[in-house]
Amino acid sequence: MRMRRLRENALTRNLIRETHLSKDDLIYPIFAVEGTNIKSEIPSMPDCYHYSIDRLNEEIEELKTLGINYVLIFGVPNEKDKLGSSAYDDNGIVQRAVKEIKRVNSGMYVITDVCMCQYTSHGHCGILDKNGNVLNDETLEYLSKIALSHVKAGADMVAPSDMMDFRIAHMRKALDDNGYLNIPIMAYSAKYATSFYGPFRSAAGSAPQFGDRKSYQMDIANSDEAVREMALDIEEGADIIMVKPALTYLDIIRRAKDNFNIPLAAYNVSGEYSMVKTAVLNGILDKSAIFESVLAIKRAGADIIITYFAKDIAKILNGGR
Ligand code: PBG
Repeated sequence: MRMRRLRENALTRNLIRETHLSKDDLIYPIFAVEGTNIKSEIPSMPDCYHYSIDRLNEEIEELKTLGINYVLIFGVPNEKDKLGSSAYDDNGIVQRAVKEIKRVNSGMYVITDVCMCQYTSHGHCGILDKNGNVLNDETLEYLSKIALSHVKAGADMVAPSDMMDFRIAHMRKALDDNGYLNIPIMAYSAKYATSFYGPFRSAAGSAPQFGDRKSYQMDIANSDEAVREMALDIEEGADIIMVKPALTYLDIIRRAKDNFNIPLAAYNVSGEYSMVKTAVLNGILDKSAIFESVLAIKRAGADIIITYFAKDIAKILNGGR
């Protein structure tokens, strides 16, 4: 056997290529901020922008032109309090962003991140007891309230990213009880307590004011535990499970794919994005590194990739490179 036979030219290479990226694999995250006339580049995430609601149409129209049909919405609110109440305000930043996106392009599929950390004054993803510990079961009520409020605003899917136990079961019941039987839940199932969320936290203003997230997000060293997390979320009613981050956890993506026959998403997080993007912008890496890093996530087993590179990838796919 001569392995080089099928590498001889582009036609044979294309014929036997095992993994293909498609625009329908990609979900593009969007940051909506309060205020007016804002489109400002996020310092920690080159080429990503904060948009106020009145200028969101610019992003939505660009995505439509590129052929990207899926977005994940993050809100950056002005108001924070102990209970994160601006997160379930029917007139909150995410709720208004969802309505505006649907107004601009009713064909855009809108997913919302359901969490509390951007909305709480302490920056944790739940309600605290007086010692500063996150209360699991008390938090579930709030998360479900947030999800319901997003869906009432027109969200097509909700994606809880808090890592409380039982939140999928609680949210599924809340959606069903309110008649939203067909709204899917994409669960951030194996979500690690990683330093790769750093650029996002400065973009969203969501860093914890004290301590860390290690009592709810997963230990970076664990793999069997990720399989147990995902099995529980499936049992509780998750429609899609997620591994996050992606590039530093490709082994977990592969285990998920081999263990479960349910749609699998992976989140190519802010730190992974900014590392590659900065290297490309500074001429340290060739820009083909962008396609390679996103393709790796698909090859590892992800069906769906949430990535800040979605527009770059769409341009490459549209240009046929
Ligand atoms: C909210 C949330 C985070 C991210 C997505 N949802 C931050 C965190 O958990 O601290 C990170 C996304 C990224 O880094 O791109 N809980």
